[in-house]
Parts: sequence; structure tokens; C-alpha cells
Amino acid sequence: MKILILNGPNLNLLGEREPSIYGSTSFETYLEQLRKRFKEVEISFQQSNHEGVLIDYLHKADKEVDAIVLNAAAHTHTSIALADAVNAIKKPVIEVHISNVYAREAYRKHSYIAPVAKGVIAGFGLQSYFLAIQSILDDNK
Ligand code: DQA
Repeated sequence: MKILILNGPNLNLLGEREPSIYGSTSFETYLEQLRKRFKEVEISFQQSNHEGVLIDYLHKADKEVDAIVLNAAAHTHTSIALADAVNAIKKPVIEVHISNVYAREAYRKHSYIAPVAKGVIAGFGLQSYFLAIQSILDDNK
């Protein structure tokens, strides 16, 4: 089983950025833990601050992995192009958010990705990624 984790804008700053919301662990550190927990899964990881680059990663991943865990960050709330890309590919995409976007500003409550994603996991901190991978594995049992 191959899974791509794809992170959008500003998520390269995890651990430093607004730690009261996003925690103080870098994604690289968390990724090591995830890979240890899911030894049977080949977890690849990409991050970009650029919408078009994220779209290119989605197109590529469709040919290379079994499922995608996508935290499109602020593009979640703005990007029809990313939603079109998720819709265009065949592999399942799980939308994740570290914070509970429904408990924050009104503009974070709308997602262009959610209607075309397999499901949405939000508000569990970095464990949102763990839950997304677990759900993919449970689905493939
Ligand atoms: C986020 C929530 C978004 O609203 C925000 O723009 C982010 C991170 C999250 O993981 O909680 O950058 O996707």
C-alpha cells in the first residue's frame, strides 16, 4: 500500500507557526512516528506553497500511489482548481486539517475539496493524519 501525504501552503512551518493552534512538532518529526506506526505502508510526503505545484503532485500521485492524504491548508477554502484536480483523479483523497476548522473563523468553514474528497478529518492535531491513514487501511481490508 502506497500513500502520499500532500501538504499545502505554510505547512512547512509546522512546529514554529502558531503553535497554540498547530502544535510544536515539525511535520518531519511526526512523519517519522507515522512511518514507525504504519510499517506496512509506503508513506511518501510532499509539501508546496504553490497551488499549481500541488495540482501537479496530485496528477502524478494518481499514477503512483493508492490513496492521498491532502491538507490543502488555506487553498481548501479558495481553490476550485485543486478541487477540480481531486475530482479528475481516480485515487481516493482524504481531506485533513490539524485544527478544527469549524471552530475557527467563518471563512474556514467552507471547503471546495470536501465535496470531492472521500472524507474529511479535522481537529485532532497531527493525529488527523494518523486517522486518515488508518481509515484508508480499514477500507482496504
Ligand atoms: C489547516 C486549516 C486551514 O484553515 C489553514 O489555512 C491552514 C491549516 C489545518 O490543518 O488546520 O493552513 O488546513
